[in-house]
Amino acid sequence: MKKVSIIGAGHVGATAGLYLLEKRIANVVLVDIVEGLPQGKAMDLSHAAPLRKYLHTITGANDYEAIADSDLVVITAGLPRRPGMSRSDLLATNAKIVGSVAEQVKTYAPDAVVIVVTNPLDVMCHVVKEVTGFPKNRVMGMAGVLDSTRFRLFIAQELGVHLSDVVALVLGGHGDDMVPLPRYTSVSGIPITELLSQETIDRLVARTRKGGGEIVGLLKEGSAFYAPASSITEMMEAILLNIRRNLPVSAYLEGEYDLKDVYVGVPAVLGQNGVEKVIELALTYDEKSALHASANSVAKSVAQWEEMKGA
Ligand code: LAC
Repeated sequence: MKKVSIIGAGHVGATAGLYLLEKRIANVVLVDIVEGLPQGKAMDLSHAAPLRKYLHTITGANDYEAIADSDLVVITAGLPRRPGMSRSDLLATNAKIVGSVAEQVKTYAPDAVVIVVTNPLDVMCHVVKEVTGFPKNRVMGMAGVLDSTRFRLFIAQELGVHLSDVVALVLGGHGDDMVPLPRYTSVSGIPITELLSQETIDRLVARTRKGGGEIVGLLKEGSAFYAPASSITEMMEAILLNIRRNLPVSAYLEGEYDLKDVYVGVPAVLGQNGVEKVIELALTYDEKSALHASANSVAKSVAQWEEMKGA
């Protein structure tokens, strides 16, 4: 039996646990510092097991011993955005939380693949990689799948075609400077640049960039969780079943795209070892500049974190 530990039993973590049970792939452990919260949510989900016909268990814990021998750890712990906040406004608080979670992962689940979800996402990947000392293939971030699913939806709605025919690619950091790639976005193989005007594409790209913020604005408390949890589940499934899906993830680059020592969203093959391979695409000058600008803002936040740590 595979074992997945989800750190943070808030909306994102608990919903990812629910979706994983529905997929019938692995036992789930929910961990949270709030007493009773992971136990209560896990108990509620396990009460649903006879009806939903789950084949696996879900348990909750406050102690990290519970994550021992996990194949996969998903880190969702941290504060979400409030209206008007950018993802990077969360840097100081969430770096502390994620840093202490990473210490525990290093101790109790030293062989796990880690998916980081906490924002600011790409910077938190650096925190986890540095604190755990895990190899780059075992630490990645979830963002591209989420940004791409939003872009897919907006395109399908605009064209009045079925969602499953739309394949979209969004690269870059998980911020307002993310890089949707219309040239690599298609409807059953037809690039959207053949189907939509530049003006329409620009509008959909802008909405994709602000997709997370639009939801924060509506919810007022907390941020999106159904689409983020669905995105995490796509990645978990690819890794746990070793099905080598090609998905955009935040991956550590060492020269690919002429970027070095930075986490940024790129297409990658996911399998049992985590990031099995980063796919390098030929980008136009403008696309590459946008990717580099996005990577630069990640690198700046990483430098900020290094400074805070030293202080
Ligand atoms: C979003 C947050 C989770 O994009 O980053 O919805």
